[in-house]
Amino acid sequence: MGAGIAQLCIQAGLETVGREVTLELAERAQGGIAHFLGRAVEKGKLDAAERDAALGRLRLTTELADLAGCDVVIEAIVEELGPKRELFAALGGIVRQETVLATNTSALSVTEIAAAASRPERVVGMHFFNPAPLMPLVEIVRAELSSDDAVETAYALGQRLGRNPIRCHDTPGFVVNRVLIPLLNDCIRVLDESRVAPEDLDTAMTNGAGWPMGPCTLVDLVGIDVHVHASEALYEKLREPRMAPPPRLVAMKNAGLLGRKSGRGFFSYEKG
Ligand SMILES: NC(=O)c1ccc[n+]([C@@H]2O[C@H](COP(=O)([O-])OP(=O)(O)OC[C@H]3O[C@@H](n4cnc5c(N)ncnc54)[C@H](O)[C@@H]3O)[C@@H](O)[C@H]2O)c1
Repeated sequence: MGAGIAQLCIQAGLETVGREVTLELAERAQGGIAHFLGRAVEKGKLDAAERDAALGRLRLTTELADLAGCDVVIEAIVEELGPKRELFAALGGIVRQETVLATNTSALSVTEIAAAASRPERVVGMHFFNPAPLMPLVEIVRAELSSDDAVETAYALGQRLGRNPIRCHDTPGFVVNRVLIPLLNDCIRVLDESRVAPEDLDTAMTNGAGWPMGPCTLVDLVGIDVHVHASEALYEKLREPRMAPPPRLVAMKNAGLLGRKSGRGFFSYEKG
């Protein structure tokens, strides 16, 4: 996610610092961005000169101190509260007073992350969708102590990045996942209840409900491990049975059937 967000920033003309835990990981992410921009050039969607200028706006580092001059820091590290709180606490001693600190968390409480920061009023959620360069939505999440100015700065940045931002409060799953996760879980339960085949369930929802993509294809694309993790997080907070991951998905995750990224989920994917 961090690489996708960095790509959006450099394409929008923003000088960007990409911080990773090792330089090797940072260079791999940079290589990925160069690959996607190269494909855009091949397809005639981007000038080679624009690509080179965009890539020139990305500076890589492993040092948090190199974020000192940033107006906005967007965090996209592992989805665990401890490391995120540690990072937000450390950033307080590095960035300027007015810098906005945004977290891309999908399932954690932005308020709990913000509570570790020295200036929680400067902390908001900026929840991008995967892959960030292709998905237009960004949820701008107001935590309990977020200032109006921090929320509006993040909203304006979302627009500058060519996204369609929406504003919402810090509730479990925010907007899209709060609706989509139980809905996808219902779809998976229907597989067993009505004994419909995955491809037929996808046909049902695309042809009968106007979905742009069938639920099995979507869960395979998101990653079955990612979906199970998000379901567990929502269930833990809301305790609604529909939020809990269906046993069939948990079994698939445990068997390593993770969807597109592992080559097999509800469907099989040939390499390339
Ligand atoms: N993958 C998605 O579909 C998706 C969508 C929206 C939001 N998110 C959120 O974005 C964040 C990142 O998700 P991802 O899927 O890109 O995960 P990922 O595991 O692919 O990437 C996490 C990155 O954080 C780095 N990292 C790990 N520990 C760190 C630490 N202590 N300090 C600094 N960096 C550290 C890793 O090197 C890695 O590059 C999570 O909060 C996740 O919930 C993910």
